[in-house]
Amino acid sequence: MNLSRKVDQLKHFKFWRFVSSGPNTEYGLEKKWAYYDQDFVDREAAKPLHKLTPTQIMFHGKFADGSHLVKSAHYLQQELPRRIARHIKDFQSLPYVVLINPIMQEVYELYLRAFRKLVHVTEIDNLEKERQYSFLLSQLLNDHKDVVTYLAKAFRQVKKFVPYEVLGDLAERTLTSRLGIRLLAEHHLALRHKKEHFIGIIGTQTSLKHIIERCVINCKDLCQHRFGYSPAVYVSGHTKATFPYIPAPVEYIMQELIKNSMRATVVRHIENPFEMPPIEVTICNNDEYFTIKISDKGGGIPDSQLSDIFQYSFTTSTDNEGNLCETEDTFDNFSRAANDKGIGGVLSGYGFGLPSAAAYAKFLGGSLTLVSMYGLGTDVFLKLIHINQPNCFRI
Ligand code: ADP
Ligand code: COI
Repeated sequence: MNLSRKVDQLKHFKFWRFVSSGPNTEYGLEKKWAYYDQDFVDREAAKPLHKLTPTQIMFHGKFADGSHLVKSAHYLQQELPRRIARHIKDFQSLPYVVLINPIMQEVYELYLRAFRKLVHVTEIDNLEKERQYSFLLSQLLNDHKDVVTYLAKAFRQVKKFVPYEVLGDLAERTLTSRLGIRLLAEHHLALRHKKEHFIGIIGTQTSLKHIIERCVINCKDLCQHRFGYSPAVYVSGHTKATFPYIPAPVEYIMQELIKNSMRATVVRHIENPFEMPPIEVTICNNDEYFTIKISDKGGGIPDSQLSDIFQYSFTTSTDNEGNLCETEDTFDNFSRAANDKGIGGVLSGYGFGLPSAAAYAKFLGGSLTLVSMYGLGTDVFLKLIHINQPNCFRI
């Protein structure tokens, strides 16, 4: 390529750099110069999304020659850049005072880097290219696994500078769009390995009871670690029900809800730890949807706080000295089962648990409702539509 053409091409790149200089590995990420082509981002962001229902994903077929993997990778190759470009534009629309926050910049740069890597992949038309693409996808999933934690930390640092809606809307859009991206990417990766009773990320015989039990084990570990005690959890109702579903997001939501109930119960009954009232989880399944009710006797929530608890970054969680928690990851990526989280994580702290659980429930075509009986306890209802229903969600 002659020099003048190269210079001409470079003109199309807008250079962007971090405000702070020098390497910063505080969040385990190396800061680098990042370049991107804004026109390219704009063009990708303007393209329509092709969202798929879980049933469409499930019945894409499986062929001995692996052509279904090439087809799936090809779909992602078209779809992911446009979705990530929308994230990038979302960050660019933030007020300057928010975007210059170092943690916000880390997240912004993660998306720029992912965009650059994904758009540089040449057309995937054979299994070798699919294999390389899958390797890139798993790297990116790993690079982005702490995005929610970063956002929660950044949110806490900048919320005093801007109206709530600016950050609340960004968090909502990022979390739900990211959930879709991650589910699609993880589905593709999961298709490459045979797992009994699974087609990609879809469990063909998902058992809510098993999901709840896994969350209980994990939350009990966290609760014991933090407080030295944990309440019992009883599961009743349609405990034998199994049906096709995507277990990962349900597990995430349940983890957050059980964690909240355990914390409230222990804090309220710490004087009588051996007489702690159990948390009762009830499963209800019918042809259209399923509901999980989590009932605790953790004292409920004062009426004055009810309008705040679904706002991002609202928390009453304090550390042992009564300070607001500034603790390690409560959040996780969706590929990891909840019980893969290391013991020693926290039980709460960023005020992202309820709003993110509600956002995911909405994304999945359902709802999360909380009923507080202040002075006694709290009931939370998670209602989600079955994936074989005509009005099911699209990923
Ligand atoms: P975090 O757990 O990080 O504080 P959440 O968004 O999960 O954030 O919850 C926000 C707040 O809602 C909690 O700090 C707590 O005050 C209140 N809350 C949530 N669930 C319960 C519950 N089951 N019982 C009592 N209070 C609750
Ligand atoms: C995310 O987890 O934030 C993503 O967007 C994942 C994607 C880069 C594969």
